[in-house]
Amino acid sequence: MTGLTVRPLTGAMGAEIFGIDLAQPMDAAAFDRIHGALLDHGAIFFRAQTITPAQQLAFAGRWGEIHFHPHMKTLPDHPGVIEILKKEDDTNVFGENWHTDQIFTATPARVTMLYAKVVPAVGGDTLFADLHRAYDALSDGMKQMIAGLRTVNVYQTDKVRPAAMTPTMSGEPPKQYEHPLVRQHPETGRKGLYFCHRGITRRFVGMSEEESRPLLEQLLQHSTRPEFTCRFRWEVGSLAVWDNRRVLHYPVNDYYGHRRLMHRITVQGDPTS
Ligand code: SIN
Repeated sequence: MTGLTVRPLTGAMGAEIFGIDLAQPMDAAAFDRIHGALLDHGAIFFRAQTITPAQQLAFAGRWGEIHFHPHMKTLPDHPGVIEILKKEDDTNVFGENWHTDQIFTATPARVTMLYAKVVPAVGGDTLFADLHRAYDALSDGMKQMIAGLRTVNVYQTDKVRPAAMTPTMSGEPPKQYEHPLVRQHPETGRKGLYFCHRGITRRFVGMSEEESRPLLEQLLQHSTRPEFTCRFRWEVGSLAVWDNRRVLHYPVNDYYGHRRLMHRITVQGDPTS
């Protein structure tokens, strides 16, 4: 663990961690420090790592059970690892727009781990927004108004995805899942907003989409103000871990004509109550 340093990326959130080789066995003290940095900063980033899918699974497994995406295939030899591939002629990216992973399930992902295999020379950054800071910055009146609201969330089927990322669907319409709009973090106790862009978070329970939209749009605009965010520029070998219970992320679609390949693993979260 000697030499492990944590360097905040912005004044808002995100931190880079230096001085650790993720291909080597990691003792409990080093993992505790890394997990502590994740709780402190919402997203953590490592550079210049060379790891196999098995090593990535082992690292992700330190946070809990691997979570399987209901509609995405995983690597046949390494169940749980999804290849996120955007080819040169794909016009869309996977996960375009602000979201937290797998809110369209009963137990949305706790953390996501993304490892860069191929990246464009420039472009393809990922943005993150801290929903604890966003909640704290709301007025007391707004906090009171939204306190009991619950959201209705559903997997988006009407979206163009990169060719390699076509979802597997059963033919049944995806189920809807309710979650609280204000979620208490199970580890830190802090309160934060918890929702996605309107393609996934459709409405509030007891309200129509039309009635819900203005408040959802306003909260998304508020939550993604630059002062609550960080932006990560990928290099081959970069690895990010983010806490889906606290942050939104947004992969930037600005590298048409270039290839980007990532290995992604999500870890099972808790029911949101
Ligand atoms: C995702 O939304 O999980 C992918 C993020 C990215 O490709 O940067």
